[in-house]
Amino acid sequence: MEIIIQPTPEAGSIIAARIIAKLVRSKPDCVLGLATGSTPLGTYRELTRMHREDELDFSRVTTFNLDEYVGLPPEHPQSYRAFMAENFFRHVNVDARHTHIPDGMARDVPGECAHYEEAIRAAGGIDLQLLGIGSDGHIGFNEPTSSLASRTRIKTLTERTRADNARFFGGDLAQVPFHCITMGVGTIMAAREVLMLAFGANKADAVTGAVEGPITAMNPASVLQMHAVAKCVVDEAAAAKLARREYYRWVYANKPDWQRITG
Ligand code: PGA
Repeated sequence: MEIIIQPTPEAGSIIAARIIAKLVRSKPDCVLGLATGSTPLGTYRELTRMHREDELDFSRVTTFNLDEYVGLPPEHPQSYRAFMAENFFRHVNVDARHTHIPDGMARDVPGECAHYEEAIRAAGGIDLQLLGIGSDGHIGFNEPTSSLASRTRIKTLTERTRADNARFFGGDLAQVPFHCITMGVGTIMAAREVLMLAFGANKADAVTGAVEGPITAMNPASVLQMHAVAKCVVDEAAAAKLARREYYRWVYANKPDWQRITG
């Protein structure tokens, strides 16, 4: 995994946006895997700025989000459909018909999950999957002990994840759904490139386990060690417990010019 340590979440978000923008410019009809949560917000803001000021064009891009809560209709303000509209889609020229998020209201949940996998396949697979990481190491909503080969399916959230996410529901834990539909770890691993972001001290243990720990379903993000093209952008706080952080800094500082991430 390539570890990119940045001084602040803002600086990390700019790097992430540049990586995504480079793909969109080189492959205008690319397929992006997108994420919700606090972590990618800065990346979406920077991509929006690039769209407004630097003509970054999303008109031919297709998107697939990682997950959605079961039981929340798309118009519910905490649904991930609403989150994506509010924080990204309405600010750029992505075609709404090309944006995909699992249907949390589907009556036939297994059918919806199979349909989602099929839609990803039909689009040609995901070129780049953007990820956050949970404080317990989850990616998407693949909580610890998730099968590392799993595909899109229903999952039950851990109490820790429900508590972490209660802030989006006005702090009211009772409002946080218990179930979600999430891409599986295997679905994420099938993306051609993975870009994981982690900001803040509460992610430091999860990041250390993912990057330097053994590959284990107890930290689903650790399976990214097996991905051929995985980058992890962290701020100083999230990097604080990495044993080899000076090496990662040194590698990044000494990249050949052609590999540098420029904007
Ligand atoms: P966060 O969530 O970005 O809101 O911290 C990350 C995640 O749970 O994947």
